[in-house]
Amino acid sequence: MKIGVPGESAPGERRVALIPETVARLTKAGHSVRVTAGAGDASGFPDAEFEAAGATISPDASSVIATSDMLVFVQSPDQQAISSAAAGTVLISILDARTDAEGLQRLAAANVSGLAMELVPRIARAQRMDVLSSQASIAGYKSALIGANMLGKYLPMMMTAAGTVPPATVLVLGAGVAGLQAIATAKRLGSVVEAYDVRSVVKEQVESLGGVFIELPAAEDAEAAGGYAREQTAEEQAAQQQLLADHVATADVVITTAAIPGRPAPKLVTKEMVDRMSAGSVIVDLAAETGGNCELTKAGEIVLTDNGVSVNGPENIPSMVPNDASRLYSRNVAALLDLLLDEEGNVNLDFEDEIIDAMCVTHDGEVRFKG
Ligand code: NAI
Repeated sequence: MKIGVPGESAPGERRVALIPETVARLTKAGHSVRVTAGAGDASGFPDAEFEAAGATISPDASSVIATSDMLVFVQSPDQQAISSAAAGTVLISILDARTDAEGLQRLAAANVSGLAMELVPRIARAQRMDVLSSQASIAGYKSALIGANMLGKYLPMMMTAAGTVPPATVLVLGAGVAGLQAIATAKRLGSVVEAYDVRSVVKEQVESLGGVFIELPAAEDAEAAGGYAREQTAEEQAAQQQLLADHVATADVVITTAAIPGRPAPKLVTKEMVDRMSAGSVIVDLAAETGGNCELTKAGEIVLTDNGVSVNGPENIPSMVPNDASRLYSRNVAALLDLLLDEEGNVNLDFEDEIIDAMCVTHDGEVRFKG
């Protein structure tokens, strides 16, 4: 199998889809791997390491694309890349299949079999392939560091010769994969951590990390299929906002991570809540790219409010930790290849397998993503 890593074309993307560790495994198994020169530079994986792992370095992405049976990307490649792939090429990438119908049409028109990494089902057997988890965990960790960095205060309590400084309070809204990692990181940095989620099952997880779980009295649990949350009703949302207002007002850092798959981010922090926060406090909104959990969030910007609160809506946070984000992504892809490649090393798209069935969004010139 000829496997190609053409490199990323999305602006600001610093990750690479396969790292030398995985390439070495693949070349040892008899596959040939081609990597575009410089594809791993931004994530700390130089060409020489890919070569040492048995890859061939090509001067440009177009020759990698045209000569590979399988292409691996982190983010959807551009139109030019797709149209220069040979018919029947297998393409593995985060494809944003739920929102990018046009992209899927382009893949189908080029007769490329697209496997969307974000559609790995959330079942035990697929955990090793789960890029949503691996990348969300990185984002949660980094969000705590971003908050700590922006805050003009210590996070831990400090007892100094000049007196005691109280610890900062970090409030985490949404305690899924990213939120739990934000809690763990903020806790390690010494802050007092509070957290809230609509799924009551996470209470124990929050507490095991040393966080205080905020409970909504008499709330109905909102866990839906696959461990995800369901959308809240208008009444539930109002009750939630009332409960959270006092906690938001007293927090030094608010990290928001709440998401509903395929839906705009739920609005948890209103302008009125931000108005009650102290000058110098910080909101880091991980849901910025899907509309934001805070009403004032602008994706890719830091908004400074009249009362001195910074509302940060960072985009593509995993790409800010490109080395380990690439390492984990690459291992997720390697686990998928273990499932995908048969003993002769050929791709076996077995649609009887629920993982492959869920991930394969285009095949034989057709869009087969069912939504
Ligand atoms: P996500 O990114 O879709 O959502 C993040 C968090 O936001 C979730 O915890 C969700 O409950 C919460 N949320 C949604 N609406 C909210 C609201 N209005 N207010 C407050 N919080 C709200 O979910 P994520 O983190 O990708 O995964 C959620 C869960 O899925 C995990 O905690 C786990 O239980 C399960 N999971 C299972 C896996 C497996 O079995 N292979 C792998 C990964 C996750």
